[in-house]
Amino acid sequence: MFRHEGSKMRWTFAAFMGHFILAVASLEETTRSGASGWTGKLLVVPMDGSHWTGVKAVAEEMGRRGHQVLVVIPEVSVRLGPGKHFTTRTFPVPYGQEELDELQARNAEASRKLPFLERIPTRISNMKRFVKFQTTTAESLLFNQELVDYLRKQNFDAVLTSPAVPTGAILAYNLSLPAVYMLRGLPCRLDSIATACPDPPSYVPRFFTKSTDRMSFGERVVNVLVSCLEPVLCKLSYWTVENMASRFLQRDVSLADILRTGAIWLMRFDFTLEFPKPLMPNMVLVAGINCGVKNPLTKNHDEKSGWTGKLLVVPMDGSHWTGVKAVAEEMGRKGHMVIVLIPEVSMRLGPGKHYITKMFPVSYSRDFFDQVMADYSNLVTTSPGSLLETVVSKVDQVKKLFKVFASTGESLFKNQELIDFIREQNFDAVLTDPVLPIGAVLAYNLSVPAVYMLRGMPVWS
Ligand SMILES: *[C@@H]1O[C@H](CO)[C@@H](O)[C@H](O)[C@H]1NC(C)=O
Ligand SMILES: *[C@@H]1O[C@H](CO)[C@@H](O)[C@H](O)[C@H]1NC(C)=O
Repeated sequence: MFRHEGSKMRWTFAAFMGHFILAVASLEETTRSGASGWTGKLLVVPMDGSHWTGVKAVAEEMGRRGHQVLVVIPEVSVRLGPGKHFTTRTFPVPYGQEELDELQARNAEASRKLPFLERIPTRISNMKRFVKFQTTTAESLLFNQELVDYLRKQNFDAVLTSPAVPTGAILAYNLSLPAVYMLRGLPCRLDSIATACPDPPSYVPRFFTKSTDRMSFGERVVNVLVSCLEPVLCKLSYWTVENMASRFLQRDVSLADILRTGAIWLMRFDFTLEFPKPLMPNMVLVAGINCGVKNPLTKNHDEKSGWTGKLLVVPMDGSHWTGVKAVAEEMGRKGHMVIVLIPEVSMRLGPGKHYITKMFPVSYSRDFFDQVMADYSNLVTTSPGSLLETVVSKVDQVKKLFKVFASTGESLFKNQELIDFIREQNFDAVLTDPVLPIGAVLAYNLSVPAVYMLRGMPVWS
């Protein structure tokens, strides 16, 4: 039924896969497809080798959720094979297992230490053989008229593939199907080019330069030079593939043209290991998607280890308290000793179930405090006239508010008895909101690590 709704539905399916992947990544068990009851047809064109692990995990999960998944693989391969929740269809290739094994053995050989002069030619010749091999495999699929016709008739909703060897990408392009790419990255920034993703050489280090995202002037110059060379390298390395694609599609195409039509880019990396760089909205980070969950963390790790610490909390009044309070409660619940410092006069700050509060006197009265707060919140919701008037009165109110908070800080710091008490407690950490740095100053003075909880900070000079 969905097939007749045409390409829009297909693109939705591809976009849906992007979200679905996120769900898998977070090991969520709810199945959206299961809930909506809609199932689609997915064609998978995998690449042999390590790439298969991630693609297979997705193929299995899509099949498990009730979608029809067909994986197209060559008759001879290193790792590719059947699965529990998808069907496979093999196609013949003009090489046998022995040739594949030989290629494998050569690669293993090349990764051993060779003298420098031998290493480079060996690498190049291995690379050439590898490309030739991949091209042969791709040709065996694309020029298998019967198979391509069969696949066309299946009316798939999307194609999942590794674009590093772009067989699946070329096929998706020819069948006019949305392609979902799964990759770690592509040589010569083809991924950035194809997605029009900003990738400034002043900031994003190029392959083999060994630079980081913080480059000196000299390193940037090298980076720019390397980025100028990349298109040439790209043309050279992908020449055979582009040639084959043009023969198959019966018109001149570049690889970038084909990759540009990709709907979703599932990127197998994570910024914990990667230098910062821009992403496009159709790039989804799925690092760790195929990591086995060996020993899931126990829900209450702290309780299990038995270690408990002492936490001092210096909260800020108002909406900021909500998040800090939640952490204070949870830490207390886990058996840590949590003391929250609270001024006698406050708007929201108060006791909780799992922490101790320590009150300290302040120099202003409840009436005065309420008045300042009321004026402030009035000001946020109403404006008293012209823009200039608004700005002047806002500045005035904010100044008043900060004066109150500063006086709170002073009351705390000048309370020698309280400070001595805090020092004697030997806290392990201070949890605080740094927007008003009372807790930060205290942590600094006590030489205790500070944990900040914040939405952001105003610009500071
Ligand atoms: C798909 O490939 C066939 C030949 O293999 C070609 O005739 C057709 O134009 C191609 N379609 C597209 C959309 O590229
Ligand atoms: C903490 O404050 C006291 C005075 O209030 C001062 O003598 C001491 O040097 C401060 N310590 C640090 C580490 O700043």
